[in-house]
Amino acid sequence: KIQKVLAAEVLDSRGTPTVGATVVLSDGSIGVANAPSGASTGKFEAHEKRDGDKRRYHGKGVQKAVQSVTETIAPVLENIRKVTVGEIDRIMIELDNTKNKEKLGANAMLAVSLAAAKALAMHYRQPLFRFLGGANAQKMPVPMMNILNGGAHAANNIDIQEFMIMPVGAKSFSEAVRMGSEIYHTLGGILKSRSLAVSVGDEGGFAPDLASDEAAIEVILEAIAAAGYTTDEVQIALDAASSEWASGDGYRLPKRGTQYSAAQLISYWEKLCEKYPIRSIEDPLGEEDFPAWTTLTERLGKKVMLVGDDLFVTNPVRIREGIERRAANALLVKPNQIGTLTETLTAIALARDNGMKTILSHRSGETEDTSIADIAVAVNAGYIKSGAPCRSDRTAKYNRLLRIAQENDLDGNYGG
Ligand code: PGA
Ligand code: ZN
Repeated sequence: KIQKVLAAEVLDSRGTPTVGATVVLSDGSIGVANAPSGASTGKFEAHEKRDGDKRRYHGKGVQKAVQSVTETIAPVLENIRKVTVGEIDRIMIELDNTKNKEKLGANAMLAVSLAAAKALAMHYRQPLFRFLGGANAQKMPVPMMNILNGGAHAANNIDIQEFMIMPVGAKSFSEAVRMGSEIYHTLGGILKSRSLAVSVGDEGGFAPDLASDEAAIEVILEAIAAAGYTTDEVQIALDAASSEWASGDGYRLPKRGTQYSAAQLISYWEKLCEKYPIRSIEDPLGEEDFPAWTTLTERLGKKVMLVGDDLFVTNPVRIREGIERRAANALLVKPNQIGTLTETLTAIALARDNGMKTILSHRSGETEDTSIADIAVAVNAGYIKSGAPCRSDRTAKYNRLLRIAQENDLDGNYGG
C-alpha cells in the first residue's frame, strides 16, 4: 500500500525550482526523486508546469506542479490496491488526460513516477537498477562526458553546443571515468596555458573563447593525446542542438553567421566526420527535418551514431516515425521529455527492437537525483551522457555508476 505521496518545491543545479517527490509505502519503504529541467528544450517535449507568477522565483516557481501531486495525484494513489510502477503511471496519465501532460505537468508526474519506483525497489530490497532490469541488467554504459561548450550557452565563436569525449577503449567503467577526468584536467591545463577561460557551463564543460568549432575539436584532440590516449581509445561526440539553428527553410549558424541549406549542413557533417574521430552527433539536423535526417543516416549511419534528442523527445510516437523513415540510428533518452518511467522504458524498448542505440541523458538543469544511472544499467543502455566529470549534479550519476559497478562486480562489463 502507498501510505503517502508528498511533493516540495526544491532547487536544481541552476538554482531554479523543480519538483521533488517522496513516496512512502506502508512498510516504511521510501523513495525520493526530483525532476530535472532542460534549457534548449525540444518543441515536442511534454509540458513542464511552471507558475508564471513573476513575484516568486521570477515566474519559475513550481507550486502548481507541487499541487498537482498533493491535490490530484496523492489522494488517488493513496487508495490504490495494486502498487506497481506501471499502474501508478497509468493512473497519472489517466488523471492528466491531455496529449502533452499540460494538466498535471510532466515535472510533477516524473518526480512521482521515479519516487514510486525507488520506494518499490526498497520494498523488494533491491537496488533500483535491479528492480527495473531484473537479472538481465548487466552492462555498464560508456560515459559521454561534455568537456567543452559552445552554442547558445557560451559567449564564444562555437556553434556546436556540446563537445564530449567517449572513452570507448577503456577496459572498465571505472577506467573510463578516470580517463575522462584526466583528459578534462589536461584540457583545463592547456586552456590555462593559453590564457583562455576555464570557467564552466551548466553541464560542467569549459567554455573558452575559441575561434571556431574546428578549433574546439583540435584542442580536445590535443588534450586526449597529452593525457596519453589515442583516438582509438577516446573518441569525440558532438551535440549540435541544431534545432536552435533552424531559420527559413534551412539553418543559420549564429556564431559564424553562415546560412546552410539542409544539404549543405549534411555535407558539412560528412566532411567533419572524415577529418576527425567523431563517433556520435546528436541533433545534427532540426527537430522538424525528418527527410534530411533520412539522407544523413543513409550517408553516415554506418560509421557514426546519429542521435535524436529534440527530434524524438523520448516519445514513442515520434520514435516510430523515425524508424519508418530510417531517420537517426540512436535515441537520446530524457525521462522528463515524456514524463513517466513507464513511457521512458517503452521508448527505449521500441528503439532497441528496431536496432537503434540508446543513450540515457541528464538535462542541463539537474539535481542530486541519480535515477538515470540506474535506468542505464537496468536496460543495458550502452551509453550515458551526464556532463563533465565535475560538479556534483553531474558526478552524482557517474559516482552512482561506480558504486553499482563495484557492489555488483560489473565494472569490467563495459561497452557500447
Ligand atoms: P537541455 O539540453 O538544456 O535541453 O537539457 C542539453 C542536452 O541535450 O544535453
Ligand atoms: Zn541535445
